[in-house]
Amino acid sequence: MFDASVYTDRRNRLRNELKSGIVLLPGNPEAAYNYPANTYHFRQDSNFLYFFGLDHPDLNGIMDIDNDKDYIFGNDVDLDDIIWMGPQPLMSERAAKVGVQHTAPAKDLFEFVKEAKAKGRKIHFVPPYRGETYMLLEELLGIPFADVRNHVSVELIKAIVKLRCVKDQFEIAEIEKAVDIAYEMHTTAMRMAMPGRIEREISGTMEGISLSRGNPVSFPIILSIHGETLHNHFHGNTLVEGRMMVADAGAETTMHYASDITRTVPVGGKFNQRQKDIYEIVLEANMKTIEATKPGIPNRDLHLLAASVIATGLKNLGLMKGNVDDAVKEGAHAMFFPHGLGHMMGLDVHDLEGLGENYVGYDEEIQRSKQFGTAFLRLGRRHQPGFVFTIEPGIYFIPALIDQWRNEKKFMDFINYDKVEAFKDFGGVRIEDDILVTDTGYRVLGKPIPKTVAEVEAVMANPL
Ligand code: GLY
Ligand code: MN
Ligand code: MN
Repeated sequence: MFDASVYTDRRNRLRNELKSGIVLLPGNPEAAYNYPANTYHFRQDSNFLYFFGLDHPDLNGIMDIDNDKDYIFGNDVDLDDIIWMGPQPLMSERAAKVGVQHTAPAKDLFEFVKEAKAKGRKIHFVPPYRGETYMLLEELLGIPFADVRNHVSVELIKAIVKLRCVKDQFEIAEIEKAVDIAYEMHTTAMRMAMPGRIEREISGTMEGISLSRGNPVSFPIILSIHGETLHNHFHGNTLVEGRMMVADAGAETTMHYASDITRTVPVGGKFNQRQKDIYEIVLEANMKTIEATKPGIPNRDLHLLAASVIATGLKNLGLMKGNVDDAVKEGAHAMFFPHGLGHMMGLDVHDLEGLGENYVGYDEEIQRSKQFGTAFLRLGRRHQPGFVFTIEPGIYFIPALIDQWRNEKKFMDFINYDKVEAFKDFGGVRIEDDILVTDTGYRVLGKPIPKTVAEVEAVMANPL
């Protein structure tokens, strides 16, 4: 937990953003796995963590903007709890650690909200994402389950986005710790990427490293010799020479800050010429967009720069043709790069996405593209110092997409389909790093994780 003043300051800044009313920030309860008492690993809600800091289930936070008071509703443990969980601090002691003076038993929240409603006060809340929270909001506010999302506070969403997007020094230090855990995860995975291994041996080892250093991974690990499937969670393939292994994985620190790193390596440890050709293009797209990062530049421009580097590289290999600027403008590159360059990262690996992707990644000036490929860019707007985001270009050969576009005779002026046919067995390459926007430019966060061909081959020369 950070110092109490960090949470008090965050709540004060949120108070300043909102004119009046009550902010209701529900914490998460436990979530049942396969029967009620067997729960998933507990994960606190990120907004609750950000403003109220306490990492325990069954707590709800209230900020009374008009009366300048903050409350945490939650129960003190009783003797039964102590028998199972050991002695626990009182709620009032816990709340004091995050600068909150007012606590009350969980059930009092209902009376508090009822009174506020009776007085016609505005109750701000953000979109829920768990069934239990929908049920709580339905009961507290009397809004039918299916209608809850129509009553969220856009004012609160925008205020939270404004605050959470800019990371302070404590948060940046935490994110760097998460990247350093990812360093261990990815260099271990590289050394394990040898023929005969099954993917899950590697993904399981990576998960174990994250758990042993902090918390479970920041999202389900994507690890596959079929990297052309972007979010591939099947880990049952046996590694074979000639394939590349994409590992997209990050850790969560004890404070729940995320990392999100992708590395792609040749099974066996040596790139063949074809692998090197494609890999070097993705690496150039990764490095050029990192180097172009600075305050004020729209992330959409970084995305298009990556697209341009990819189209140029593929043209040099004979897989694309024609004018590169026109190809990118029309979206021909997206057959090979059908996703966005990256997203915000922080307490959530896709930071704040639950509040609505367009509130986080777009604004009045920069709106989401409708074009296949660029439309999937989660973050388009201009960068500000303190933003932490991912840069994750890739090149993929997706047989079903290639066949469809070829049959539709799509972009015949820009794609050399005859040459592409020979790459349908290639798979994919993605390289992802976590970047801080500084006052003057950028900083790649954490200990540098090997990514040039020479660096990757050097790590893999010591297999595990
Ligand atoms: N969660 C996968 C990624 O955004 O990289
Ligand atoms: Mn990733
Ligand atoms: Mn990512």
